[in-house]
Amino acid sequence: SLEYVLEEYGVMHEDIKEILFSAPEIANRIQELGKEITRDYQGRQPLLIGILKGAVPFIADLMRVIDLPVSYDLMAVSSYGASTKSSGTVRILKDLDAALEGRDAIIVEDIVDTGLTLKYLLENLRSRQVNSLKVCTLLDKPSRRKVAIQPDYNGFEIPDKFVVGYGLDYAENYRNLPYIGVLKEAVYQK
Ligand code: XMP
Ligand code: MG
Repeated sequence: SLEYVLEEYGVMHEDIKEILFSAPEIANRIQELGKEITRDYQGRQPLLIGILKGAVPFIADLMRVIDLPVSYDLMAVSSYGASTKSSGTVRILKDLDAALEGRDAIIVEDIVDTGLTLKYLLENLRSRQVNSLKVCTLLDKPSRRKVAIQPDYNGFEIPDKFVVGYGLDYAENYRNLPYIGVLKEAVYQK
């Protein structure tokens, strides 16, 4: 319950109306994803590409449960800003540090919503002579998809609700919450 998480983790917030995934539930699911990736990439050295800023907690936890020689890089693309709706326009704000040529890359995302960000990223990264390219997202909101794109690895499927916490933000807030929760509508209707 909400009260349990509040007591156990201390960082409950008055703007959250419902907790979808507690910190231990997230940790357990990520462990399973790590095992899947470990199995699928045997004998290879995957490069995880975290998409800033939302995927930071996820990639940090995920890389530590993959039992392979993993490296990671970070990329920043333009996002919603303070809005809760996608503009559909994607821009690279920070590119990768290193070349992708011959690498087995895995894009690590916080959430796939319309899929527009991912569509852009896949097209952009595929053009860089990558050996293989897959997508691992913590959350998937398939009901809002505008383009036919599916993550290869997905932590949780969620309904069409705006969620925050564990890296996900509203106007840069709530990223530090250890759980994933639904924001009260009143917060973004102010
Ligand atoms: P698209 O629509 O391109 O969106 O798939 C991907 C990006 O949109 C943001 N996003 C959210 N952020 N709560 C958030 O905090 C949400 O419910 C949500 N839905 C989409 C997110 O930055 C993601 O990378
Ligand atoms: Mg955001």
